[in-house]
Amino acid sequence: MDKRRDRLAGRTIMNLFFENSTRTRTSFEVAAKRLGADVINMDVATSSVRKGETLLDTAMTLNAMRPDAIVVRHHESGAVNLLSQKVNCAVINAGDGQHEHPTQALLDALTIRRRRGSLEGLLVAICGDIMHSRVARSNIHLLQIMGARVRVVGPPTLMPTDVDKMGVEVHYNMKTGLKDVDIVMMLRLQTERMQGSFVPSISEYFHFFGLDRAKLQYAKPDALIMHPGPMNRGVEIDSEVADDLDRSVIHEQVEMGVTVRMACLDALIGGQRNQIGNGA
Ligand code: CP
Repeated sequence: MDKRRDRLAGRTIMNLFFENSTRTRTSFEVAAKRLGADVINMDVATSSVRKGETLLDTAMTLNAMRPDAIVVRHHESGAVNLLSQKVNCAVINAGDGQHEHPTQALLDALTIRRRRGSLEGLLVAICGDIMHSRVARSNIHLLQIMGARVRVVGPPTLMPTDVDKMGVEVHYNMKTGLKDVDIVMMLRLQTERMQGSFVPSISEYFHFFGLDRAKLQYAKPDALIMHPGPMNRGVEIDSEVADDLDRSVIHEQVEMGVTVRMACLDALIGGQRNQIGNGA
C-alpha cells in the first residue's frame, strides 16, 4: 500500500535529539516522510555539540538552513521552549527533561479514545515513577482536559512535591490505586534521572509496584494496559501482562504515535503552501 502523501512536499523537518529515543524519533521521521517532507536526523553524538557548541548556537545554525520545523528532545526541562524563542520555524517538543512530552499524551489519548469511544468519565491510573516522568505530566494535563479522572500511584519517594496541585488522586499502593480503574498506564523507572536511591531494590519495587496478573485483578475486568515505552520487563511490568493481546495496547500506542505526529506536522506547517521561508 502506498502510504506516502505530498502534503508536506518541499518542507524540511530536522530531528534534533539530545537524548536517546526509539519511538519518538522514528515516528516523527516516518510521519514526516509519509507526508512527503524531507527529514534530516541530526546525530548529536557526532555533531559539533561534542566540541562544546551550545544548544542555542546549534539551534541557530540549523535555523540558518531554513527548516520548516525542528523536533527537539532535550534532557533539560524548558530547553525546548527556550530554543523555540530563538528560531523562526515551528518547534515541536519531543520530550524535555522531567517536564513535558506532549505528543506522547496526544497519542495516548487517541489510543484510549479508539478503544473506549471517549475519555469522558474514565478512571485512569498512572503508576510508577511519577516524579521523573514527563509522560505523566503531559498525560495528567490532557486526560483531565478530555474529561477523565486521574490517579497517580507509586511510592512516596517517586511522587513529585507538587502532586497535590495537579488535580489527581494520590495512592501509595497498587491495591487502592488500581481499584476499578479503566486504564492502567505503567511508567518506566527512570534511573538515568535519579541521583541516589529512590527505591530499596528493583525486586522490592517490582513486588510492590510492578504490574503483574495479580495486581491487574484490582482494576476493572476489561481495563486496558498502557506503557509509553521503553519497557523494563520485570521492573515495572511483567511480560505476561505486557504481552497480553486482549488487554495490552502498547503496540497500538506506537502506531498512533505516527498518526498523531503526522497530524501535528500537518497542523503546524501543512498550511504554508506557496510561502517562501518560515514563520510557522
Ligand atoms: N515513549 C517514548 O518517548 O519513547 P522513546 O524514548 O523511545 O522515544
